[in-house]
Amino acid sequence: MPNFEKVVVETDLLILGGGMAACGAAVEAAHWAKENGLKVTMVDKAAVDRSGAVAMGLSAINQYVGLKDGANTVKDYVEYVRNDLMGVTREDLVANIARHVDSTVHLFEKWGLPIWKDAEGKYVHEGRWQLMINGESYKVIVAEAAKNALRESGTGEVYERVFIVGPLMDGDRCAGAIGFSVRENKIYIFRAKATLVAMGGAVHVFKPRSSGEGMGRAWYPPWNSGSSAYFTMKAGAEMTCQEVRFIPVRFKDAYGPVGAWFLLFKSRATNAMGGDYMVERKPELENWGPYGRVKPVPANLRNYLGMLDVMEGKGPISMRTEEALQKIAEKYKDDPAAYKKKSRELESEAWEDFLDMTISQAILWAATDVQPEQKSSEIAAAEPYFIGSHSGASGAWVSGPEDLQNGETKGEYFWGYPNMSTVKGLFCAGDASGASSHKFSSGSCTEGRIAAKAAVKFIVDNGKTIPQVDSAVIEAQAAEALQPLETYEANKDKTTDPEINPSYIKPKLFMFRLQKIMDEYAGGVTAQFTTNKAQLERGLELLTFLKEDSKKLAASNLHELMRCWENVHRMWQAEAHVRTVLFREETRWPGYYFRADKPKMDEEKWHVFANCRFDPATGDWQMRTRPIHQIFH
Ligand code: FAD
Ligand code: ADX
Repeated sequence: MPNFEKVVVETDLLILGGGMAACGAAVEAAHWAKENGLKVTMVDKAAVDRSGAVAMGLSAINQYVGLKDGANTVKDYVEYVRNDLMGVTREDLVANIARHVDSTVHLFEKWGLPIWKDAEGKYVHEGRWQLMINGESYKVIVAEAAKNALRESGTGEVYERVFIVGPLMDGDRCAGAIGFSVRENKIYIFRAKATLVAMGGAVHVFKPRSSGEGMGRAWYPPWNSGSSAYFTMKAGAEMTCQEVRFIPVRFKDAYGPVGAWFLLFKSRATNAMGGDYMVERKPELENWGPYGRVKPVPANLRNYLGMLDVMEGKGPISMRTEEALQKIAEKYKDDPAAYKKKSRELESEAWEDFLDMTISQAILWAATDVQPEQKSSEIAAAEPYFIGSHSGASGAWVSGPEDLQNGETKGEYFWGYPNMSTVKGLFCAGDASGASSHKFSSGSCTEGRIAAKAAVKFIVDNGKTIPQVDSAVIEAQAAEALQPLETYEANKDKTTDPEINPSYIKPKLFMFRLQKIMDEYAGGVTAQFTTNKAQLERGLELLTFLKEDSKKLAASNLHELMRCWENVHRMWQAEAHVRTVLFREETRWPGYYFRADKPKMDEEKWHVFANCRFDPATGDWQMRTRPIHQIFH
């Protein structure tokens, strides 16, 4: 490759990503690798200290079961997730995380994460499963633990600012990954006995609400661009729940989360007429089977009730911050000093929630003179994201643990190693693994630990020899990875404006095209999250043209080269999504998307997983259902 140094790294366990799941994986792998004399390599496109969804910090730990206090059981958590996902969840995966998550949270505390405590020294809960934290430095703390574990065990190494493009394969076994440095002219060939994918979910597949000067602002971090999905699909892994996108309701324009407001401050959200859609539209819940009757109301149904107000012209919807804070402070009104103190406390908690997690929301409040104790704030449904670790469910179809299977599930949900995909030696965690929602930061870290332990076992059982990849194949993949630089060099003089050229397309314009297709045809913001068969088929047709043009992506520098590949990854995530929404002929998650031609839930036919697989040998897609088995009764 001209001017590019080829760096070959041989390792035992390759961890891709440096987020919550990857850091958990590193901590766990360091321990087991040391015992077995193995090497661990972690690769992140960014700097681990501030990479991934937790880069800005978080204000809560959203999964804590509290098993020791007897507060909840694993079964309680499984039921919560099953209900929230309208019945579609892998109970073995959810339970496996739930039974271990508390220990991860205790590790966070040991590593230095401040978790709020009450006067009796007990954790302060935001809601039943959520703990409040002073989480501005959450990611730095977890990253430090991961790096320390790798260094201290003498087993590990970390590559930062290396963007992973795709998998290396040895037949039906994953043999590692190929990537490039986003700072130096280096192409990396990582050869590994097992590979653990933890590169997060995807944003900017759909057109965001933010445009023009606000473009780039989204709830989900712009740097997670579908690399996990692309990697696993290109390796030939079966994928699940690709239709289960997540649409969070957020403070409008800066996307501040709502959890603390709804759960901790117990705020209401009301429409322009002062009506509360959760109360006024309650009868609508009856249309959604048993899931309309559960508590809490599933996230997508909560969204849907608000959306019905907006579609009827009753917007804007407002988070009644002023009402909620006043209500809490009022309890102290007989004691002026206590009232003043409590008011101050609440004000500071309200600001800290955003300063810890979504600083831009605090900046927007400051810029628009919002004092939450005096004035409500507009909220709105955001554009769709792919985040299997939160309230979406997209990801790879992975094996569960053996001991949680029953007679029905053993052959279906278990094939040897927890969290291994259907491709040998390819493990997934966090957003990368599907059908196990509501793991959030703590559960993702836990799942990374589970997957890493299993991956080390896989290596010990199978890995005496490192998988082989033909050197000509590696050369071809390296050339493909760097092609956008070549395309730019070969054609850049054909126009005076480097952004527009008859022979190439720059990644930004390519992304706009992808987003327009998804927005209009696959139920984005503009389409009020609604689509149908004809729209989806037209979307697929346009995606086919886009895929052809992806060969013409051009990059004038390494940063743009990364942007090119991010958008190729997004495009693959988009295709898997459209194909699966088309395949599932019902509407199961109104509030996430609505199939206008199949407007009802069909429990009889569609109480199943909708799975898809790209076949790397033929280039074909296979769609299939998998049964949903209840493990916890
Ligand atoms: P991430 O932590 O996002 O990590 C992905 C990693 O992959 C990053 O290191 C990234 O740099 C890397 N990567 C991506 N592409 C590539 C590539 N091509 N090559 C190499 N590396 C790559 N959870 C809570 O528990 N509490 C909360 O309060 C909370 N609030 C949230 C607020 C926001 C705004 C968001 C977006 C999420 C929130 N979550 C919260 C959820 C939580 O952040 C996620 O569930 C969790 O981070 C998922 O972990 P992950 O490892 O799968 O992904
Ligand atoms: S965050 O990840 O960006 O912080 P969010 O603020 O929506 O997400 O949610 C935080 C936690 O609160 C999640 O566990 C979510 O499921 C839960 N949550 C948010 N709103 C509600 C609500 N109205 N009812 C019940 N749970 C909620």
